[in-house]
Amino acid sequence: MAEINTKSSLRILLASAEVAPLAKAGGLADVAGALPKALRALGADVCIVMPAYRMILDNPEYSISGVIDTFPVRLREGSIHTAWVRRTSLPNKSEFGNIPVYLIGESRVSAPSAAFFEHATTSTRIYAMEPDPYLFFDRAVVEWVSRINQTWHPDIIHSNDWHMGLIPLFSRQHSSLAHGLHRPKHVFTVHNLEYQGEFGHDQWFATGLAEDLYNLDGLECYGKWSFMKGGLNFADYVTTVSPRYAIETQTPEYGAGLDGLLHKLSVQGNFSGIVNGIDTSVFNPESDPNIFANYSISSHSGKELCKAELKRELGLDTAGHPLVIGMVTRFVEQKGFELIHAAAERLMAMNVQLALLGTGDPRYERFLVELCDRHPGRAAVKIEYNAALAQRIYAGSDLFLMPSRFEPCGLGQLIALRYGAIPIVRATGGLADTIVDLDEDPASGTGFSFSDYTPESLLNAISRACKAMSNKQSRDRLILRAMQSDWSWDRSAQKYLDIFETLSGRHLIRNETGKITV
Ligand code: GLC
Repeated sequence: MAEINTKSSLRILLASAEVAPLAKAGGLADVAGALPKALRALGADVCIVMPAYRMILDNPEYSISGVIDTFPVRLREGSIHTAWVRRTSLPNKSEFGNIPVYLIGESRVSAPSAAFFEHATTSTRIYAMEPDPYLFFDRAVVEWVSRINQTWHPDIIHSNDWHMGLIPLFSRQHSSLAHGLHRPKHVFTVHNLEYQGEFGHDQWFATGLAEDLYNLDGLECYGKWSFMKGGLNFADYVTTVSPRYAIETQTPEYGAGLDGLLHKLSVQGNFSGIVNGIDTSVFNPESDPNIFANYSISSHSGKELCKAELKRELGLDTAGHPLVIGMVTRFVEQKGFELIHAAAERLMAMNVQLALLGTGDPRYERFLVELCDRHPGRAAVKIEYNAALAQRIYAGSDLFLMPSRFEPCGLGQLIALRYGAIPIVRATGGLADTIVDLDEDPASGTGFSFSDYTPESLLNAISRACKAMSNKQSRDRLILRAMQSDWSWDRSAQKYLDIFETLSGRHLIRNETGKITV
């Protein structure tokens, strides 16, 4: 096992609004909770910084330190806030030790409203509608880094999604971080280009930034300003979460207005895609405590039990042998619900059962509830956020459906593979990069995919999947191949590390004994 020389290691600070399992609303959290561990395993010295949501502070499972630092943060003229920092660590210890998590919060002694992040009592309440909490957090991170710079100066600050988008700009403007020996380099990762954190010009004053940044090379974007623009324009390097999405986002269809800028960054060699992995210690059917029976590649008979119990739990008919199609997702247009809506009755005419879990657009929630009412015992939906039930759906489903209109990476298909639920996906973004269609490539296919965004193509892929799964031999072969495919973080973390090393000019070298030095 490699020893890590933390004294001289490459230092990385990852900033994210969500980190699993502390606060999770979507895939961003899974990435932010797993990538640091994989980077640590490769020899980097990694810390995480995130907002101190009330739900984390109130959770007795985390041992959180007292306040270790407090300092003023100036948002704009006449608006000074007090930031504080507390420390905890990721609960799933990696074999290389704990990953520290720094929580930054705000104190208000007497104020008309509660401090930022106090409203976040559950993961569905993490996000605020106004820019101030993020302006505060991004400025506070930069200020805090300048304070710890003597003892732990990050070589890289890795900011994720729009909420962290202004960290690179504030850092460049900071008197003690902008120059000198320890100027951190900035990597900004886009997890979904659709959410840009846009605000109107009437809110520009809130940024505390000079008017000359309200232009195309600054934060201005089609008559508004956005945090995302800050990340793209001021980071040293931009990544997104799959190579295919990196290409797609340079086209008007997927670029959400930023295709021109992303293309420019790509031509300059400053933009690329790295596919996400999954945390194989969390998503593991062999040890998952949430599922009815554990199973493994060498013996996946437990999966049948998981399927039978899932049917009982969701009230699906237990007679006969219909294939169970699972979906764990946000019920939003991006995830392909227009297609599902158009194809639903034809889908129910097939010999399948549906097991659905998620929350989202009330319009789709209503449609799904009505669909289940029309087909009792054949389709079941739970409108909730439930991580344990999600695992039981992965374990108990034969097929896993992700017909997304666009998908930056998608983690569901990777988790499904690990649990032997065969993915049916639309070939876009990370779904295209991770799932090989069985009919196109019988020797290495791991699922089924379709390209045209039409109900017919979707139904065609589902019926091809049903056909392959109805033959026991081909089904067993497919399940085995799915479970064997390796989407752990190792390879992708190495790609991030390559970028971090190039930018910082610091290189981790593994010598013959496996010891890592810089
Ligand atoms: C966003 C994207 C999803 C991606 C996740 C993590 O939720 O929509 O495709 O897997 O971020 O990067």
